Amino acid sequence: MNELTPVAEEAVNYYYYLGMIKRVGRLRAFDAAIGRVVRPGDVVVEIGAGLGTYSLFAARRGAERVYAIERGKVIEVAQEIAERNGLAERITFVRGESTEITLPEKADVLIIEDFSSMFVRRGLEEIIRDARLRHLKPGGTIVPGAVTLHLSAVGDPQLRRSVLTLEDEGYNVCGLEFGVLRDMMLGSPHVRAIGPDTLLATPQTCARISLEQPESYLFDAVVSLRVCRTGTMDGLAGWFDLELADGVRLTNAPTERDSVWRQVFFPFADPIRVAQGDVVVVRLACVRSTQTRDLWWTWQATAPAGSAHGSSFQGISFRVGLPSSDAAVG
Ligand SMILES: C[S@@+](CC[C@H](N)C(=O)[O-])C[C@H]1O[C@@H](n2cnc3c(N)ncnc32)[C@H](O)[C@@H]1O
Repeated sequence: MNELTPVAEEAVNYYYYLGMIKRVGRLRAFDAAIGRVVRPGDVVVEIGAGLGTYSLFAARRGAERVYAIERGKVIEVAQEIAERNGLAERITFVRGESTEITLPEKADVLIIEDFSSMFVRRGLEEIIRDARLRHLKPGGTIVPGAVTLHLSAVGDPQLRRSVLTLEDEGYNVCGLEFGVLRDMMLGSPHVRAIGPDTLLATPQTCARISLEQPESYLFDAVVSLRVCRTGTMDGLAGWFDLELADGVRLTNAPTERDSVWRQVFFPFADPIRVAQGDVVVVRLACVRSTQTRDLWWTWQATAPAGSAHGSSFQGISFRVGLPSSDAAVG
């Protein structure tokens, strides 16, 4: 437990929602996108409304009716906020899972924002596919419409140390051996703030996902990274770039110091020396367990001086990278 964990199990985790709302850049980007796509008279559905901010934006931008779907108790807070802002009349708050709810009509615009720090997470694809079929009119607009995923090489010993938290103890505490945790941490992607100055290579796009595509969001990508600075590669850095609407983007690239998602660090068990001009061939795959539906990540790098790999098959699962979490990505 830490100060971010509510004491009462049923309580709304205000720290989580406040942490998001304080990132004004994120709100402004969504408001601008909603302003681009919502026309007066439109019906809008938001999945995962949280505090209802984007539903409020949609109502303020002229939507006739907004359905704000949220599974959590926070929906009661959202309703109160809508009332205090004089927008409650046009917003219907619906508590439950979007995949289990039937709305009285389909929407012109669907808004969704519940992504991991590398965008994909367990269940996301299924939620969006269901929403496209049951909550959105044919030809309706999704915000965001698409996302690109990016990779670079990262050299930062402190970042690496940040995942090896029992290193000083040699993984021995009170006479017990905890060495398996070292393997698990090195076999997991982690949400971290990665400094732009720690990147060793020019970033490359490794995947593009359209939220309208019927195909799976899973991918297995190979990219070549050109090393721009000599150093030691401790792992890979990953992030996304949301295409919210025409001309409106939102990224959690390392240059965005205020990003609620921060970035993803895919660590190497054995760092690799790289020299400026080297080409590092990197493979990143996101696969799904057919049994548990959990997402697994595997990453590999081959540089002139050596190779490295990691896999969350043996690591801990990739949890959502929002303020309360400092561990693995979802
Ligand atoms: C990252 S938060 C975003 C909240 C909102 N955009 C805001 O700014 O307050 C995601 C929210 O989506 C909700 N959620 C995720 N998937 C859902 C689903 N399929 N049905 C209903 N709520 C969902 C979660 O409970 C969480 O409150």
